Amino acid sequence: MTKILLSAILSISFISSAFAAHPQCGETELANIMGNMKDSMKAIKGAAKSDDFEKINSIAKELLISVQKADQYVPLAITDQKELSAEQQQKFNDYKNGIANLEKAVTSLTNATNTAEQKAALGKIGKAAKKGHKAFKMDCDE
Ligand code: HEM
Repeated sequence: MTKILLSAILSISFISSAFAAHPQCGETELANIMGNMKDSMKAIKGAAKSDDFEKINSIAKELLISVQKADQYVPLAITDQKELSAEQQQKFNDYKNGIANLEKAVTSLTNATNTAEQKAALGKIGKAAKKGHKAFKMDCDE
């Protein structure tokens, strides 16, 4: 019984890896930067519970540096090549606009001095991430 279960699990995991979106999915420099951004957001949410604005502002400054780095990388969903076609360049410009939008929201978080400003900035960050992922993030399990 255990053997059957084990082989079933193995074949399911094999099937999903056979359909992986791209061999580099989740392994790019951009994915690495995004992972750091996720860690910063976790730390910010922790600090937000204690209304420690100074701490939030300083982590937000670190987040801002990651966001500025993310601006320089082309999402895998657009291409894995260095040379961009005109159409890919257009998509990359759209991606950069999404990152600029995020940068604005994170900048307002670095300047937030009260809970209302902080909440508004966090809301904008969440929206920018959702929109950006919907448009440009590949689903690694597909
Ligand atoms: C603070 C806001 C954000 C956070 C915390 C965040 C977090 C993440 C995480 C955790 C991943 C998965 C990384 C992995 O696979 O290891 C990811 C991937 C990705 N995110 Fe974000 N994200 C944010 C905002 C955005 C925005 C605004 C955009 C686009 C305008 C964006 C575009 C992408 C793309 C394209 C990927 C896939 C990376 C690749 O193509 O190699 N993200 N993000």
